[in-house]
Amino acid sequence: MNQRARLDPAPIPFIDVAAQRRRLGRSVDDAIARVLGHCQFILGPEVRTLEAELAAFCGTRHAISCASGTDALILVLMAAGVGPGDAVICPSFTFTATAEVAALVGATPVFADVEEATFNLDPESLRRACATARKAGLRPKAVIPVDLFGQPADYSRVMPVAEAEDLFVLDDAAQSFGATYHNRRIGALAPATATSFFPAKPLGCYGDGGAVFTDDDDLAQVMRSVRVHGEGRNKYDCVRIGINGRLDTMQAAVLIEKLKIFPDEIVARAHVARRYSSGLADVATVPIVAQGSSSVWAQYTIRLAPGRRDALATALKAQGIPTAIYYPIPLHRQVPYQGFPVAEGGAPVSERLADEVISLPMHAYLDEPTQDRIIEAVRGALGG
Ligand SMILES: Cc1ncc(COP(=O)(O)O)c(C=O)c1O
Repeated sequence: MNQRARLDPAPIPFIDVAAQRRRLGRSVDDAIARVLGHCQFILGPEVRTLEAELAAFCGTRHAISCASGTDALILVLMAAGVGPGDAVICPSFTFTATAEVAALVGATPVFADVEEATFNLDPESLRRACATARKAGLRPKAVIPVDLFGQPADYSRVMPVAEAEDLFVLDDAAQSFGATYHNRRIGALAPATATSFFPAKPLGCYGDGGAVFTDDDDLAQVMRSVRVHGEGRNKYDCVRIGINGRLDTMQAAVLIEKLKIFPDEIVARAHVARRYSSGLADVATVPIVAQGSSSVWAQYTIRLAPGRRDALATALKAQGIPTAIYYPIPLHRQVPYQGFPVAEGGAPVSERLADEVISLPMHAYLDEPTQDRIIEAVRGALGG
């Protein structure tokens, strides 16, 4: 070992996909080998098995797998008939895909603000966004609450506003698959729910993947058609405009194996989050999980006074500890979205969060000594 290697502590991965791979052992290799054996690479038997297991996991009538979380959102919007002239209300503090899909189907994203405590959609801002949309000559048609960083949005407050405004509710659960809200799993909280299996997500595959959950038989049937170019009785009977949005059989095979250890991983992630919060609560604003909710901790995100996070990121980087900023710019300030309406009153919480949040390494295999190293480094950098 050279002098430098001895002085520099080993770099810590932000998400340790390799550690999970070691735990899974040969099971994923064997699952992929089975697909290589039967050669049904598109909509093979593993896709059907996975869909049944996902539906059982969430307690929904239907789980429709697809090519990504973005396609999952698009499948719902297309099947629900959202299009030109329609306003789709989205929180501004989220990943681009939430609003992108509204624009892609020809509708208009209208931005609402989020709540200070949970970073999730503010129902009052949702109400104001509907009024703003109507003033702009748009028909408020749908809302996409996001379960940011793994915590469900507050559906018991969002739903009454959605009902009063006659909005279709599409839960963007890209980050929250496996979370619960008052003893119900994500997937069963809204008429339709979209999730992502991107590798960094709580349940990730080894490429892109996603799924939609619903109890609505008609919606499910249309989404299955849209997923395969709008097919009808068969592939060459085209009954509507669709997309190529299928999940690969190989990714389904990977997900079947990963789903077996997922409940255990959820517990491990919650343990990491609890230890972070008890180690950091006196030096930073640590995340709050609302009563009755559980998070799957897609991110562990702390909040600092303005101007402090760059120094923290630099200090941690020097010690081999990566950080990330989700999200540095709220969507209504991003170039392609600047022309779209924002709820009356603006989105000041989203703007403040974009300046103040910073996320720490988070995964199910973060052992206690490594976590203690991160906690000590954060405390040292913040003068705790
Ligand atoms: C909130 C949110 N919505 C949608 C998506 C899109 O998912 P995907 O990357 O699988 O298309 C993501 C993924 O990062 C996300 O975080």
